[in-house]
Amino acid sequence: MKTRIVVTHSSETVRQRWGQELRRHLDADVVPCDVASAPAPVRADYAIGWRPHDDFFKAVTGLKAYFSTGAGVDFLMRHPGFPATVPIVRLENAGMGVQMAEYCLHAVLRSFRLAAEYEAQQREGVWRTLEPPARDTFTIGVFGIGVLGSEVARHLRAFGFPVLAFSRGARSEPGVECISGEERLPEFLARCRVLILLAPLTPATADLFDAKRFAMLPRGAWLINVARGGLVVEEDLVAAIDAGQLAGATLDVFRTEPLPPGHPFWSHPKVRVTPHVSARTLVAESARQVADKILLLESGKPVGGVVDRTRGY
Ligand code: NAP
Ligand code: GLV
Repeated sequence: MKTRIVVTHSSETVRQRWGQELRRHLDADVVPCDVASAPAPVRADYAIGWRPHDDFFKAVTGLKAYFSTGAGVDFLMRHPGFPATVPIVRLENAGMGVQMAEYCLHAVLRSFRLAAEYEAQQREGVWRTLEPPARDTFTIGVFGIGVLGSEVARHLRAFGFPVLAFSRGARSEPGVECISGEERLPEFLARCRVLILLAPLTPATADLFDAKRFAMLPRGAWLINVARGGLVVEEDLVAAIDAGQLAGATLDVFRTEPLPPGHPFWSHPKVRVTPHVSARTLVAESARQVADKILLLESGKPVGGVVDRTRGY
């Protein structure tokens, strides 16, 4: 019997792409399903999607695993009907690492090369050389050095920046100073000229970056958030920037997405906003990864990227 896979996504084109790509690697019966409504009842082996409809799991039963079309699974962890017995498997890189590295490197280089300052000078017609920061003291802190954080760190190292990483458990990465343990967070933050957030949204990271944590950064640090908006207390961030404690922020993720009209970030001169695009899901690469994992599961072998529900990622 063919493996049956339900693909749920808001876009019909994307659902079709997933179907085509999965069938390139698997002899599968792919059932597309819109996220806007609960699907017709169906028994399936696997499901693939981002934020399934609240009643999705009432209709789709018999699942051996649910594959997230993202690296983050916080939405799935909060899903009201997600069956406790169905394993969640997330994407591991699948072409996101290089995108994340490009995005973070671009933001770091803007800060390091004083791009905003020179742009301000141009607006005023000012020709003046500014003193650049020293590279060997321009430490970049990566909060969350997992699959994507380690790729970002590798690219930053290639540009010669000192990279400091913080993770939940002990990690080691070539050329990167790795720190772990909640009690060492102040020490980590105190050294970050640029702080990159790349940890999942979990009960332990929600609202972690608030006024108290921003005050621990060196004065004039820059924040890059490519993780989830829920890690940051947005009012505290605006206040820290307005007080000069932070030089500014590059934000790709927000507590409410799309970012609501009139939100202070839209017009703040020291905040750069992008619409959750730092690392997009590439269907061909992702479908290949999911298909490979389905083949492994079908032959009774373990797969990577299985979410630990107790820790939340
Ligand atoms: P990952 O491989 O699971 O890595 C997560 C890292 O965060 C790990 O190093 C982990 O520590 C660390 N971490 C978890 N909880 C922590 C805590 N309480 N304190 C300190 N560190 C903690 O995940 P990934 O694939 O790199 O993805 C990271 C996140 O990026 C995703 O969860 C998602 O939210 C976000 N993302 C955003 C976009 C976008 O377009 N903006 C795209 C993709 C992903 P351990 O090493 O000890 O486990
Ligand atoms: C995107 O935000 C992802 O988690 O893949």
